[in-house]
Formats: sequence, structure tokens, C-alpha cells
Amino acid sequence: MRLFKTDMYNTPDTRNLLDHTRQGVIGKPLDRPEGPLKVSGSATYSAEWKFDNCAEGVLVLSTIAQGTVETIHKQPVLNMPGVLAVLADEAMTRRSTQGTAGEAPVQDVHTVEYFAQPIALVVAENFEQARDAALALKVDYAISDEPIALDPESPDAEVEDPANSEPVKGGDLDQTMRDAAFAVDVEYDTPGHASAAMEPHATIAQWDGDHLVLHGSYQMLSYNVKEIADCLSMSPKKVRIIAPYVGGGFGSKLGITHEAVAAAIAAKELQRPVRVVMTRQHVFQTVMRRSETRQRVRLAADASGKLIGLGHEALVSNLPDEDFAEPVTQATEFLYSGENRLLEVKVARISRMTAGSVRAPGEAVGMQVLEAAMDELAEAVGIDPVELRKRNMPDKVPVEGTPYSSRMLAEALDQGASAFGWDQRNAAPCQRREGEWWIGMGMASAARVNMLVDAEARVTLKADGTALVETDQTDIGTGSYAILGQIAGEMLGLPIDRVKVMLGDTSLPAGAGSGGSFGAISTGSAVMRACEEIRKRVAKALGCDAEDLDIKDGVASAGDDSRALTDLLDGKDFAETGSIKPGKTAKDYSQASYGAFFAEVAVNAFTGETRVRRMTGAFGFGRVLNAKTARSQCLGGMVWGIGSALTEELAFDLRDGHLVNHDLAEYHVPAHADVPAIEVILLEERDAAASPLQAKGVGELGICGAAGSIANAIYNACGVRLRSFPMTLDKVIDQLPDPFAKVA
Ligand code: MOS
Repeated sequence: MRLFKTDMYNTPDTRNLLDHTRQGVIGKPLDRPEGPLKVSGSATYSAEWKFDNCAEGVLVLSTIAQGTVETIHKQPVLNMPGVLAVLADEAMTRRSTQGTAGEAPVQDVHTVEYFAQPIALVVAENFEQARDAALALKVDYAISDEPIALDPESPDAEVEDPANSEPVKGGDLDQTMRDAAFAVDVEYDTPGHASAAMEPHATIAQWDGDHLVLHGSYQMLSYNVKEIADCLSMSPKKVRIIAPYVGGGFGSKLGITHEAVAAAIAAKELQRPVRVVMTRQHVFQTVMRRSETRQRVRLAADASGKLIGLGHEALVSNLPDEDFAEPVTQATEFLYSGENRLLEVKVARISRMTAGSVRAPGEAVGMQVLEAAMDELAEAVGIDPVELRKRNMPDKVPVEGTPYSSRMLAEALDQGASAFGWDQRNAAPCQRREGEWWIGMGMASAARVNMLVDAEARVTLKADGTALVETDQTDIGTGSYAILGQIAGEMLGLPIDRVKVMLGDTSLPAGAGSGGSFGAISTGSAVMRACEEIRKRVAKALGCDAEDLDIKDGVASAGDDSRALTDLLDGKDFAETGSIKPGKTAKDYSQASYGAFFAEVAVNAFTGETRVRRMTGAFGFGRVLNAKTARSQCLGGMVWGIGSALTEELAFDLRDGHLVNHDLAEYHVPAHADVPAIEVILLEERDAAASPLQAKGVGELGICGAAGSIANAIYNACGVRLRSFPMTLDKVIDQLPDPFAKVA
């Protein structure tokens, strides 16, 4: 009898199996097995696959924001050297997809919905010829009579309730705000963000009869296959995606984008492989953006600083008919007390590229604002910001009443504060000056929802005493290869060099994909389940119960009995497919990863320039599967936090709707000189409600609130309380105190 009749994760698996296995590889800071390939340039990324006779496609983008394409003057371009085709009549796709619905409607690219929407593909023998022809292609448009707004603040912007979320309402927030001992009512704004993954979107499409193979850059292969099939009106069974290495995604590759569909159509028409690589500018202009937000936060506290009311209302934007609305209040729902509450998101319909998931959708921008407002409340109440957070950890989720699974917020606050030296902070601003720099400290909580999603993986324990893990899970730079190998090695008692991991091919069992910080725990749980089945077979061969089995370094033992796996397997392979699906645990418990950020900044007393001098983050996200890759995820998140606080901002020209800063020279992600020493503390935790691994998601945790700690440090340094991100020097300089005034 199988222990788990159903793969649904309905009850917490409290056996903590990985605490009883003996190999000792789980959690260790092991190197990524594919690391040498990547640093030596020999890992093959999507555009780098070699095919004979491969033609090159370049997308043509619209130069209007709204209207229709009337005439595409193909013939002059078809006469140019090397040009093979101009594809514009076909239904390609005019919007990037979100990636989790598995549905991508066929779209007629003649309807233009935002500036720089792809409207055609020019294909030529080589890239230069295709680019030249794409630039030369003349297009006539009819501008729409009833344009939709270019900006969410425009009076023309239609504002709607989001399709997929309900407001949270409890008690009477207005009355509570009036009666409270302390009330903070503030409005913040955050700009749009680009994912800014290093590898641009690229696809090589190739047909074999009616079967399509795509070598491309995607995060969620089993969904992406369905999306491609929908777009091309074909069976998903006839689509295969191969993506063993992906150079970052950050949400932008959750769903398919224009180059994939265009390449597939062109390859069919020309009966030869076609490669379409987006330029950096194409990626910025047409691929998913994070919505800008305007957020009102209301905090009502009693005399001790305990929250009795909490309001968080946000205006975000998207194209008409898009379901996604940046879930700004996602963590606000469970983080702090205050039964009198109103949490609500509204979405303005505007003409910009699709808004979707970018680096911790919801929490990244929601938490940075909430945590900045909490700093304002701490000051109003006159208590330490760390203490304010600790006083406001509810026993159960307010309004809903759901219990927490495990929550390391207090531990993160305490350990982070102590490692950082928070006790050295001056409570009042403008107390510390070094030359022309004001020095200040700030902190913020971190929180990110935990999600377990459907995943499958096959594990084979081979007769030669090695193991093979196979799934279409992607590794987008996150460490999937390392972690999945460690789980199998730990469960099967094998040194890590005897475990091989194959990923990123839809001919393998469907993993979770990389998104929402759910890849490692979901696909990892499927790997663990497959290994459990294999352990049962090994136990049977040894003649013991699975619970009594120990395996270490390829030797199985129970009591005094011990035999090498190679001997037990007797020339056979043991192959099992494991799976996991979200079940009742997802509803029965509020599950999240938690943490705390501490930042020290220097603000130039004359120019308002802010430099982050050091940061500490402490994080609890269940079991650490690999201390090196987990730490790197946290580091990366905090670097994103620096960008969100100080530099990143999509700038649109409101005359015609075009994106002004569409490359990495003008859209500023933090560079090395912007990133100081960052300390990451990984807390020990087990969370059986979250996954059989007792692990929770960590991928995006490091950004969720990080920018708030920097905003708060700016205030502590120079007394400038900005409510607009990013906090660039032009915003700071107007409010700076007299640079020559004596420090108090
Ligand atoms: Mo993520 S922004 O769900 O890739």
C-alpha cells in the first residue's frame, strides 16, 4: 500500500524525513553542478543552439499606441538582399502572456494596443539583413478614435475591480482612525519596473512534419507548451520545448512572448528553422512590466503602538481585459494586527505593454510602502521600529482567522538587529554626520506568501549505483540543478557526484516551473516522493520495513544487515515518478516566508545622493535546501531592493505612450558600485504545512520590504521623509536640511 494514496498535500507531513536520512548533503552549501559550464561559456542558451540552414527573424514594432495597421508595404522589403518573408497577416500574439493560466488566445496583430507592440516579423538569411529590412519596412496606421488612457492618473483611465481578488474588509476603519491614539494616513507611489533579466527573450523554432520543437528561454515549460499550442491551434502533445539553461526571467518568461509564436509561424511557412532574438529594446518595450502603484496606507494604533486598524488601498494598471492586477496587499493580509481593516486593489485600464508578474509581484512594492508607513507610525508612537513590529504579530490572520503554519518574524527581527548593531541607531534623524554625508539606519520586515503547486519528477536509481532525476523544471539561475540533486542524494543515500539531474525539456515529467518562489519546494517535493517509492523497493529487496532503512554512500542497512545498492539492485533500475499537488494545507494554514532587513545609508548633505553602505537580512523560510543557493537568492533580492529604493523606474512619454528608457543604460538596475557588503542570515526552521520537505519559498523573499528599510534609513539620516520611489537625489535635495547646520 502506498503511504500517500493521493498526491494532494492535504495534511502536513510531520515525519520530517530529511532530518532522519544519513547522507548529510541536504542543506549543504554545495556548488551548482552546471556552474563550470556557465562560467566557461559552454552552457548553451536559447539563441546559441546551432541548426543548419537557420533563418533569422526580427520583429517590427508599432510606432503608435492605439489603432489598426492598415497597410504593410511588404514588396520593397522583400526585394532587399537575403529577405525571405514578411509575416504580418498571421495571428501571432499582440500581448505577452502571464504564464499560469495555460491559455493564450489567438490574436490578430493588426489591432495595436500599446506603443511598440510587435506587428510583423521580417525573416532573412542572416540577422543583419533581417534587421535592415525590419527598419526599412513602411507601415500605414489608422489611429483609433477612442483612445484609452496612456497613464493611470488620466481622467480617461477606466478604473475597475480586479478579476481575481476581493477586497478584505473588517470592522470600521474610518471610525477607528478617528478614535485611535495614533493615526498615520499616507500616500506613496512606486513606478513601473522591468524584469531586466540578463538573457533577452529568444526562440529557435523547427518543425518535423506537424511536430514543433522550440529551443527557447522560458520559466514554466509545461504551461508554455499549452500556450504555444493554443496560439497555433494545435495539440500541446505535438509541441516540445527545450530550455536547459535560462539566463534569468524574473517573471518576464513565465508566459510566452511574441518571438516564440512568430518564430514558429515563420519556420512553418519557410520549412526551415527560424531564430528570433529580441533586442534589449524589444524586451523592454513589449515584454511584461510591473505596474506602477499609488498606495494609501492607514495605520491606527492604541497608546502602546498596537494596531487596531489597518488600511492598504492601491491603484495599479493593466491593458483592458487582462486578469492580472499587481496584488499589492498580498502580505498586508496576514502580516500585522488590526481587525478594523480595508485592503483593496483597483486597476486602471491603460495603453502600455501587459502588466504582469515581476520579481515578487505584490509584496515587492506593497511591503516597501507598508514598511515605510510603519516607520512613520513608530516615530509617531515613539517606540523602536523593531519593537513596533513585534507588538503587532497577530495570533491568527486578522478577519480570516486562519492559523499560521510557522513564522520566524520575531526571530528574524531579533537576530537581524543584533547582527547589524541596530542598538547603535539614533532614534531621531540628523544625528550622525561623516564629512559631507548624513548617516542613518532603517529597518523593515520581509514577508512573501508560500505556494506549493503541481509538480512531477522521475527518479531512477540505476543498477550501477547512480541516480538520475528528470523533470521539465527550469533552472533560471536559481539553483534547481543543485537542489534537486541534493534531495535525491539525501533520500537515496548517494554522494552528490553520483546523482545526475536533467531539466528543461518537456519530454520529461512536468515540474512546477520557475515562478512565484515555488519551483524548489514543488518540484523538490515530487523528487522526494519518487525517492520514497524507491526506498520502499530497496527496503523490500533488503527485507526490512522502509521506516527501518538507512542508506548512506550507496550502502543500504537495517539493523545488522547491510548491502551495497549495486548488489541489491541486481542489474535492474528502480524508476519511480513522484508528484505533488496543492491540497488542504494551502487553505488550512497561512503560509509565508518571513525576514527582516536592516540598512545603513549615507545621504550627501549637498546633493541628496544616497549610497547604501551596508545591509543585513535575516530570513526564515523553512528548511534550507542549499545554503549557498538560498543565500544567493536572498542577496539578489536585496540588490533588487536597492534598485527599487533608489534607481529603477520605467519612464513613459505621455504624448505618444512610448517607453523612454528601454535599455540597461537608461533603466538603472544596481551595478557593482551600488551594492555594498550584504550580510545574509539563514534561520533554522521546519514548516511541515508548507511542503513534505519542510521548506518554503525563498526566491523572491529578499526583495519583499527591502526598499522600505532603505527609505527609512534615508529619513533617519537626513530627516527627509519621501513618499515616492525611487528616492533619487532630485527628490531628496529640495528637502535637505541646511548642510552647514551643526549636528544636534
Ligand atoms: Mo516570478 S515574478 O513569479 O517569476
